[in-house]
Amino acid sequence: MIPGVTEAVETSRGDEGTTWEIRRDGAVLGTASAGVRRGGTLVNQLDVPVADAAVSFDAVLEALRERGEESVALDVRADDPVLTAAVDGRGLTLGATQMLLDLAVPVAEPPRVTLRPMGAEEFVAYRAHLVTGYAQDLVDSGAVTDAAAALEASEESTQDLLPDGVDSPGQHLWTPYDGDVPLGILWVFVEGTHAFIYDIEVAEERRRRGYGREILDAAARAAVDLGARELGLNVFGFNEGARALYERAGYATTQRTYRIRF
Ligand SMILES: CC(C)(COP(=O)(O)OP(=O)(O)OC[C@H]1O[C@@H](n2cnc3c(N)ncnc32)[C@H](O)[C@@H]1OP(=O)(O)O)[C@@H](O)C(=O)NCCC(=O)NCCS
Repeated sequence: MIPGVTEAVETSRGDEGTTWEIRRDGAVLGTASAGVRRGGTLVNQLDVPVADAAVSFDAVLEALRERGEESVALDVRADDPVLTAAVDGRGLTLGATQMLLDLAVPVAEPPRVTLRPMGAEEFVAYRAHLVTGYAQDLVDSGAVTDAAAALEASEESTQDLLPDGVDSPGQHLWTPYDGDVPLGILWVFVEGTHAFIYDIEVAEERRRRGYGREILDAAARAAVDLGARELGLNVFGFNEGARALYERAGYATTQRTYRIRF
């Protein structure tokens, strides 16, 4: 033991993840734990005094580096002051943001956009576009480095979420229209009072004309009609335009995800 040095001492490790005790000069400062996401390590809990957050996190990173990990993912909830203090000021690149809209606040009816359920034929084309697009997003966000692995992960998650295409339980796929002009796509999942936007897209040639915002508003109204009280979504860190759109529409950030490569 080196005096004054903060160490992360592994207390358990298994298929589900790892736990550590954070110690300084033999005294226990607190604990940290990590789970597993896509086969890699995901640090999701650091329970130490806020003042010790940064050095404790350094100790966890050192323990992971020593055991040969190449990178680590990190989920930082907005209501977690310890992990927030641990990552702030490190200049990390944002991997993704989870955002949430409180549906108790009324959303105005969009003036131009209406939603029509996606047909089975439209779905075939959309599914192919979705699988390749999401695989590319996984690579661009740094979540997966290998293109073939990203494609496989994308196909698997698409199959999991949409096993029965447009009839998959809880899933709502729409084509938004302005009059008779199709604008893009909207895919929302609803379960009880929680709804989640899996995909929202405006055709490239129709962007920056306010359609994205109208589709977002149509999604909120549809989610309310389906019984939801909150509407969540996940936006990749590189997608600053989409994040700006959601912020302007009143979405709050609930969690940020980062990746640190050693
Ligand atoms: C994100 C997306 C849906 C936005 O659609 P859109 O029709 O262009 O959005 P809007 O015209 O309604 O934009 C509303 C506001 O959002 C913000 N915004 C939208 N796109 C932006 C961009 N590329 N850069 C910066 N701000 C942007 C702006 O504040 C904009 O207002 P402004 O045009 O008055 O400045 C569209 O860019 C898209 O389909 N992208 C590809 C798919 C995608 O990334 N989907 C989001 C997945 S999380």
